[in-house]
Amino acid sequence: MTTGVPTFKLNTGAEISSVALGCAAGFTPEDIAHSKSWFLTAAKAGYRTFDTAQIYGTEASLGAAIKESGLPREQVKIVTKLPWHRCEYIERSFNESLTSLGVDYVDVYLLHFPQAISYPTGYDIPTDVETILNGMKILEKPNFNDNWAVLEKLYESGKAKAIGVSNFSIKTLEALAKTAKVTPAVNQVEMSPYCTQNDLVEYCKQKGIQLMAYSPSGHEKVRKDPTIVRLAEKYNISANQLIMAWHVARGVLPVPKSADPERQKQNITLPKLSPEDVAEITGLDKNERIVNKPDENGVLYGWTLEQYGWA
Ligand SMILES: NC(=O)c1ccc[n+]([C@@H]2O[C@H](COP(=O)([O-])OP(=O)(O)OC[C@H]3O[C@@H](n4cnc5c(N)ncnc54)[C@H](OP(=O)(O)O)[C@@H]3O)[C@@H](O)[C@H]2O)c1
Repeated sequence: MTTGVPTFKLNTGAEISSVALGCAAGFTPEDIAHSKSWFLTAAKAGYRTFDTAQIYGTEASLGAAIKESGLPREQVKIVTKLPWHRCEYIERSFNESLTSLGVDYVDVYLLHFPQAISYPTGYDIPTDVETILNGMKILEKPNFNDNWAVLEKLYESGKAKAIGVSNFSIKTLEALAKTAKVTPAVNQVEMSPYCTQNDLVEYCKQKGIQLMAYSPSGHEKVRKDPTIVRLAEKYNISANQLIMAWHVARGVLPVPKSADPERQKQNITLPKLSPEDVAEITGLDKNERIVNKPDENGVLYGWTLEQYGWA
């Protein structure tokens, strides 16, 4: 096995490496300041696609790390996302992302969530978690169809080389398709061996939408699953590597986060799994979300699972 992964082709024709570095680093100023160093080790290890978001606060660190790596801009793919509370200010927010990253285009720009939210603070996100979670007002307008029309303009301008969505389901993708002129290039969703979303994988394949898997390992819970442990031993690799290889075998692009240079290398050093092993891992599905799960009322960030189309 050699380090480095094959590429997938987006519906724009662009080639994108089949594993990207997850660039959510934690939210303290120390976490964010520290992130530049592990973005840089990832670039040196061979990562060429980086998944950030305005809400992560890591766009500036990522831009600085890419510059320091010496990699030509055209060899790197940058994915970033519009926060849900910036839907009334999309162009302003997008331009702010470009400035933070220090680039004049991004490779993929995503609607981070289907719902549009407003906070009492307006453009800025509240600083306390309580207001972030409870002070949100779900907007009827603009809705994701309206927001998508603005992303289409960014795409036409060439400043977003591809546009896509995140946390969309078949239900919301179908609703989007009713007004969209451009088919999303990407849908980034939570996906792991415990949340395999087989119908969505099939749907996106048919529509030419590249799925990206976030929180792709399923964290320790899935890494410790006995089937995962046994198959990882069979291939003489770590559980995380096995899971990333499973995503890639399904045509899904995982965005693992690691701040550790050795684990970063592991996550892009992947064997080819046998179809039987891929099927066995897919068979572990429990429709269980590890990160973005609803509260006791079945609500997640102001939307019910039914609204998301996850029920
Ligand atoms: N679109 C969305 O709404 C959304 C939501 C959540 C996340 N995301 C994206 O998904 C990315 C990843 O999410 P995540 O961090 O929850 O998921 P993850 O990559 O599945 O898990 C990260 C955890 O796994 C550990 N790890 C990484 N490689 C490992 C290895 N080879 N062996 C053992 N442990 C390993 C990391 O520790 P070390 O760092 O110490 O290695 C870290 O604790 C984020 O950075 C972000 O880009 C998107």
